[in-house]
Amino acid sequence: MVSPQAAVSAVQRFPSRKPLRHDFVWGVSTSSYQIEGAERLDGRGPSIWDGFCRQPGRIANGDTGELACDHYHRYRDDIALMQSLGVNAYRFSVAWPRVLPTGRGAANEAGLAFYDRLVDGLLEASIEPWLCLYHWDLPQALQDIGGWTNRDSAGWFSDYARLIAGRLGDRVKRFATFNEPSVFTLFGYSFGWHPPATDDLVSFHAAIHHVNLAHGGAVDVLREQVDGASIGSIHNMQPSRPVHPTPADQKAAAILDDIWNRAFADPQMIGDYPASLRGGIDLHLRDGDMQRICRPVDWLGINHYSPIYAKAEGASPLGFAWADAPAGVPRSPIGWQVDPKAFRDTLLDAHDRYGLPIYVTENGAGAVEKPDAAGEVHDAQRIEYLSSYIDAMHEAIEIGADVRGYFVWSLLDNFEWGAGYANRFGLIYVDYATQRRIAKASARWYSAMIKAHARQATP
Ligand code: FCB
Repeated sequence: MVSPQAAVSAVQRFPSRKPLRHDFVWGVSTSSYQIEGAERLDGRGPSIWDGFCRQPGRIANGDTGELACDHYHRYRDDIALMQSLGVNAYRFSVAWPRVLPTGRGAANEAGLAFYDRLVDGLLEASIEPWLCLYHWDLPQALQDIGGWTNRDSAGWFSDYARLIAGRLGDRVKRFATFNEPSVFTLFGYSFGWHPPATDDLVSFHAAIHHVNLAHGGAVDVLREQVDGASIGSIHNMQPSRPVHPTPADQKAAAILDDIWNRAFADPQMIGDYPASLRGGIDLHLRDGDMQRICRPVDWLGINHYSPIYAKAEGASPLGFAWADAPAGVPRSPIGWQVDPKAFRDTLLDAHDRYGLPIYVTENGAGAVEKPDAAGEVHDAQRIEYLSSYIDAMHEAIEIGADVRGYFVWSLLDNFEWGAGYANRFGLIYVDYATQRRIAKASARWYSAMIKAHARQATP
C-alpha cells in the first residue's frame, strides 16, 4: 500500500529525462459501450454488444452495459473529475446506434444532442475532445445484413462519419476512425470472444478489408467536412512473441504479428497488406481499393498494454493459437505481463515504420480492487505500472520517437468486455451499486505527474 504522498513522490522518477514538449497531450480514454449505459433510452438502437452480453456464458457474471457507469446522465460529474485530474484531452467514442439507431437512414436527434452536451461541457472545461467513431458497438441492424463482411459497410461508415462531422466538426477537430480493428475482427470473426462470434476465414478476411475501406472513406469525409481536422486511427501494437523458442512457435508469432500489428496499419499508412495476408484478402480486393484505403492521416494512435504470445496450432485455419505469457514473467493483478521495455520498443518501431506523430491513445493496468475501511483505494501497482510505462515512453522520445501525447485507460472503472465489471482499469473507482465515484491514489499521482511535467516543459 502506498500513501498518496508516496505515490506523488513517484514523479521523482522523471527529472533525469529531457523535458517534454510544452504542448504534450495528457489525457484519459473511455468508450461508449463501456461507460454510457442508457442502453434503451432516448431512441438508441441496439448494438451488437447488447445482444452478445445476453447470451449465456459470454460475459463474466452475466454482466451487460445496460447501466455501466451511467455516464449518459453523469457526464457533467465525469468532466469535473477530468478537470480535477488536470488532463487537457479526453478520448471518447460515439455510439453509432445512439445517433443512427439502425445504422443508416434517419438520425436520432436525442442521441446527437447528448454528444453536443458532452463536447460543449469538455470545451467549457478546457479539455480537448478526441472523438473516436468506432469502439466496437456496431448497430445490430447492420450486423443483421452482414456487418463488416458486407462490402457496403464502408459506405455505411462514411455516411455515419458525415453525420458526425456535420454535427460536431465545428467544435471537435481530433478524430480517430477505428479503435483496435485487429482486436474486434480477430476476436469477433475468428476466436468467438466478441460479437458476431463467427469463425470462418473468408469472413475474417472480408471484415479486415472492409474495415480498411471504411477507414479510408471516413478519412476523406472528415478531411472534406471539418476545417482543421486532425485525423488518425488507433491501433493496438504489441510485440508478438513465440511462447517457446521453437521454429514452429516463431512462425506462429510471425503470423500473429501480421494480423495484430500490420493488417490494418500497413494498408492504411503504407498502402500494402503483409505478405501472409495477401492470399486471403485477394478474394475481396478490387481495383483501386488500396488507394481508397491509404489516405493521408495526421497521426497514429497506439494502444499498448503488454506483449502477446502465439504457439503453433496445426488445427487452426489461422496457423497459430493464442497463448498465455510464459510462467515467471512479471504480471499485473489481472495477470497481464508487465514489460515497459516492450512498450518503448513498440513506439520506436512504429516511429521507424510509419513516420507519423504518435499519440499513445490507451495504456493502463487492470486490477480487482475495492476501497479500504476508510473508503480509499490504494492502487500502488497501477501507479508503479503507469510510472514505469510513462518513463519507457519518455525514453523512446529521447531516442527519437515522435510521441506527442499519452492517454490513460481509463478515466473510470467500466464494463471490461468479456470480463464484465470484475476487472477495473480506472483512475477513478466506480461503486456500481450507487454509481459513486472515488478517486484512487493513482488519480492523485497522475494529476501530480501532469503538473510536474508542465513545470518542466520546453516552450
Ligand atoms: C483495449 C480496449 C479498451 C479496454 C482496454 C483494457 O483493448 O480498446 O476498450 O478494454 O483494452
